[in-house]
Parts: sequence; structure tokens; C-alpha cells
Amino acid sequence: MCGIVGYLGNREAYPVLIKGLKRLEYRGYDSAGVALINSNDDLNVYKTKGKVDDLENFCSDKDITGKVGIAHTRWATHGEPSSTNAHPHYSESKKLAIIHNGIIENYAEIKKNLIAEGVEFRSETDTEVLIQLIEFIEIKKNLDLLSAVQVALKQVIGAYAIAILDKNNPHQIIAARKQSPLVVGIGKDNQEFFLGSDASPIVEFTDQVVYLEDGNIAVLRLGEPLKVVDIHNVDLNPEVKTVDIALGQIEKGGFPHFMLKEIFEQPECLTNCLRGRISLDKQQVTLSAIIDYKKQLLSAKRIIIVACGTSWHAALIGKQMIETYCRIPVEVEYASEFRYRNPVVTSDDVVIAISQSGETADTLAAVKLAKEKGAFIYGVCNAIGSSIPRATDTGTYIHVGPEIGVASTKAFTGQVTVLTLLALCIAREKNTICDEDYKCIIKGLCEIPDKIREVLQENDRIAELSQTFTYARNFLYLGRGFSYPVALEGALKLKEISYIHAEGYPAAEMKHGPIALIDSDMPCVVIATHNEMYEKILSNIQEVKARKGRVIALVTKGDDTISKIADEVIELPETLECLEPLIATIPLQLLAYHVAVCKGKNVDQPRNLAKSVTVE
Ligand code: AGP
Ligand code: GLU
Repeated sequence: MCGIVGYLGNREAYPVLIKGLKRLEYRGYDSAGVALINSNDDLNVYKTKGKVDDLENFCSDKDITGKVGIAHTRWATHGEPSSTNAHPHYSESKKLAIIHNGIIENYAEIKKNLIAEGVEFRSETDTEVLIQLIEFIEIKKNLDLLSAVQVALKQVIGAYAIAILDKNNPHQIIAARKQSPLVVGIGKDNQEFFLGSDASPIVEFTDQVVYLEDGNIAVLRLGEPLKVVDIHNVDLNPEVKTVDIALGQIEKGGFPHFMLKEIFEQPECLTNCLRGRISLDKQQVTLSAIIDYKKQLLSAKRIIIVACGTSWHAALIGKQMIETYCRIPVEVEYASEFRYRNPVVTSDDVVIAISQSGETADTLAAVKLAKEKGAFIYGVCNAIGSSIPRATDTGTYIHVGPEIGVASTKAFTGQVTVLTLLALCIAREKNTICDEDYKCIIKGLCEIPDKIREVLQENDRIAELSQTFTYARNFLYLGRGFSYPVALEGALKLKEISYIHAEGYPAAEMKHGPIALIDSDMPCVVIATHNEMYEKILSNIQEVKARKGRVIALVTKGDDTISKIADEVIELPETLECLEPLIATIPLQLLAYHVAVCKGKNVDQPRNLAKSVTVE
């Protein structure tokens, strides 16, 4: 869940590492640290509780020289956030230093054995156990570092991406991965190497990268080609890939927060997502995955979608699209539940895994489980080259560019778009959609970017009305049909960044319980656009008003009925009912954003959260 950066080359490592940490800070941010080997071969470790800025302050009077270094922003799993528990961790002799992302599950047992051997520990982390074990093996068995790492990793149960510095080998970094992401960047003529939890700290310096696979151990040595071996020291031939992330995509570009930038990027992102997949003149949708794997996808007797959080909300919309137009039954599962309950999955099933980061541990585990059970796996991911797309049989990238804000925004609309394209493709092939619907949805999809632009013009008004809701302790979000998952997503956004408790509910279910909560302090956000459910939703609004609740209604442009009843109305351009989530989500993202900003919260890095949940 944390961010890992490493540098080995001819420049000063510290500025490269700090910049890299800032790019990765969205992944975890309760403490930060850096280890550097200076020209006297001293291995210096500096770390502190807090953010990367705090680390920089802490280092301001320290020796930060050195051309090799590793750095970390932590999201604590074992041991509270503190400078002692922050990474890097020294080995007992302080000859080695490690950074780690993941969890060493059998750390307690290893620690007990090492303590019995007289090893002294400084922190409460599982990570320190690993570096102490490595040094212990190195000394006891008289092995070189690489061999000691291999022996140690054989004993370790759990997930890790690690990087290790050795003061006796100052021109080397050893890194390894299992279930946590790690990317190596290769500079010209092997004169520089970079490490990152993703490519974002690397792209500024090189576009040549190797995405390490599970079980890979990488040895980075100055002037030598990258060496990748497995735990048994078998040489592997890593594939060097070219990344094409532009630097501008991972910077704020004039917006005060990544989240706002990402909300505003959605028209362009969705255009990118549709590009090459939709042809207006031919009125046709093409997904290469469907062409290549037609048999597997079309013969699905059932589709199971696994995902977490926002991606799970997108899955609920995908379910409705696929069931409506493809007539294939769809189940939507929380990946974390699915993976642990021995689900019934057969080779007749297609499992769709949705994940922005492509690294969510539960979703990845669900994919592996479904694969073992013989299902065909289709990924809907954003981060190119991440673990989930690599573990699936095929899939479609949403192509919305790096999403940095912890609260997912553009990935959601990208996921819904891809699921819509997928449903259209399958439905067309299966002949379960009529020509008129197919063409209408294609046309509607192409109009979505402009309609989102229209909604974004409401930003100032939403900012203004948000000020009046900062008092609220609770919010209710109501929607029906395609808008129900939008209500869930709106509530999640508000919770995540403003820390206001919010619940999303199918509007008609309100009377079965939540209605008891409504009083004059309770704002209710109702998605009440013009569709088949309009009259019913109107009644639900009346029910809230009758109990003095405050209603913020999302209505279709020109609606003059609800504007007379609701306290606040946000108008949305008209679109097809099945495409409404792509439009209605936008004001809810903005509402959550502005309420959080008004409350003075750290929108891009909300407390307790991290962008990629690579731990269970
Ligand atoms: C969304 O705002 C959240 N931060 C979170 O729920 C997220 O959607 C979830 O962790 C899944 O992430 P993924 O899409 O990268 O798998
Ligand atoms: N388990 C380690 C810790 O708690 C690493 C957590 C992380 O990935 O940031 O320090």
C-alpha cells in the first residue's frame, strides 16, 4: 500500500527520491523515510512520522549526499505510524537497509526465532523482521546478499515489494516482488536505474521499464544489464517495455487538487476511452478482446464481476447493462468476500475483474481463484502493465490516464464506459439488442463527453451550495435502477474525503428503514432524472420533504416540478437512462469535493486511506 522509490546512478539520489515519493505519496502517507549511501560508504537512514514534506524538513540539516538510495512512504499495517516504525529499516549491524510494501504474515514466528538467537529489534514492524532475517542468514551461512535474500524469501509467507541497500556494495540495489507491485526503470547504457511502486516516479527519467513479476528478484548494478533471477537463482529474461505516460498526466496542471483536475479531465478521458473503439459513421463498437476471444465471451452462461469500492459500484452498473442488453445473468461480488468463500465458479463462467490500479490485493486474489476454477477472466483496468491485467486472459484498458487523487473519479466513468462498450459488443454478437437500441446507445455515448462538459459548468454553483452542507453529520443518497449505484458512489465519495457519514440507498427502500433518520438536519441527495422511475422518485422526494429533510435533487434540464419541491436542484443534460450514471456522477463528485474543501480536509490524501490497497 506504500510507495517505494529507488535510485542508482550518477546523479545525487536524494532529489530524485523525494520527487518520486511525492508522486507516490497518494499510495500511503503516514510516515516517510530515505536511505542513502554517501561517498564514504556510510549508509544513512532518515525517517519521520508524517508526510514527505516532514521528511524534507527533517533532512534539512542532514548529510543527504549519495548516488544510491531508497525511499518509502508508509501506510502502516504492523506498528503505529511513528518514526521508529517508518521505513527504511536497518539490519542489526546497520550494514543493510530495507524498504517494503506489503505484509510478512509469518513475521511473529520468524521474530521469535531470531530473538532466541539474540537478534535485537528496534521497531514493531513485520518489515524489520525480514531484514534481520536476511542479515542473520548472510552471517550464519556466510552467503552473499543475493543468496541470503533468496534463502530468506523462501521462509517468508506474505506479500512484498522490497528494495535493499548494502553499505559493502554501494553500487547495487537488490529488489524483489511477490504480490506487491514493483517497476524497474533502466537508464541509458545501464548507467542509471530507478525503482518505483509504479512508473510515475520513473517516467521523467526514462521510458524503458521492466514490470517485475511475482517471484522475481532484481539485481541493479551500475553499468551492468539488469539481472533478474528467481528464488532458486534461475536467470530470467525480463521484458523491457516502453511506457508512454506524459509527465503532465501525473502533475496537477493548475488545479488545487488532483481530484478536481481528474473530475475536470473526464470529458477528455472518456473521449480517449472511446477512441478507436466506437465508429460513429459505421455505427459500430469494436473491442479487440471480443474479436480475439469471441468464443469464450459469447458462450458465457453467467458473468461474475469482482471488484472493490468504486470499481464495485461500476460493476453494479455493468450488471444492469449486460443483463438488459445481453440477457446473460450477472453477479456482482466484493472481491474480498468472493475470494474466501469457495464460490461456485465453473468453466462456463466469465469473470470480469474491475480495478483502477490493477493492484488491489483482494481483486487480484479473486482473479487467481476464479482462474484456478477454470473461468475465463476479463480485466477492466486503468494502470497499464499492472498485476491484474497481467493475470487475466484478456481485457480492456479504460485509458483515462494516471489517477492520483485517492477518491476515484475519472476511473469510475471510464469503467462504466468500458462496461457499456463490452455489453454492446456482446449483445450485438449474440443478437440480443435491437438495431435501434444499439445505434442509439452508440450515439448517446459519443455525446457524453460534451454533456459532462456542460455539467462541469455547474462547478461554481455546486461549490457555493456545498458551503451550506458542511454542518451535516449524515447524508442520504437515493437513486433507482441505473442511478442506484450512482447514489452509492456519491455517498462513498462524500464519506472518503469529508468524513461525513453517508449512505446510498435504492430510493424505494428508504421507507423500509432509513426514513426513520430523516429530520431537518438530514440532507438527501436524490437522483431524479426523467426516466421510467420519475413519478416514483418524485413520491420519494415528497416523503423526505414531508419529514422536513433537505433535498438536493439532480434533475433533467427543464424539470420544473421538482424544482418547486427540492431545496436545491442541479440540472443535467438529457441522455439515455442507461448512460445517466456517466452524467449524474459528476455533480456528486463535485459536491463531495467542495464539501471536503469547505471543511478544510486533505482531499487528495484523506485520512486512513491509500490509493492502491495492496494489502488485505
Ligand atoms: C474509491 O474512491 C476508493 N478510494 C476505493 O474504494 C477504490 O475504488 C478501491 O480501493 C478499489 O481500487 P481499484 O479500483 O484500484 O481496485
Ligand atoms: N507492513 C509494513 C509496515 O507496516 C509495510 C506497510 C506498507 O506497505 O506501507 O510497515
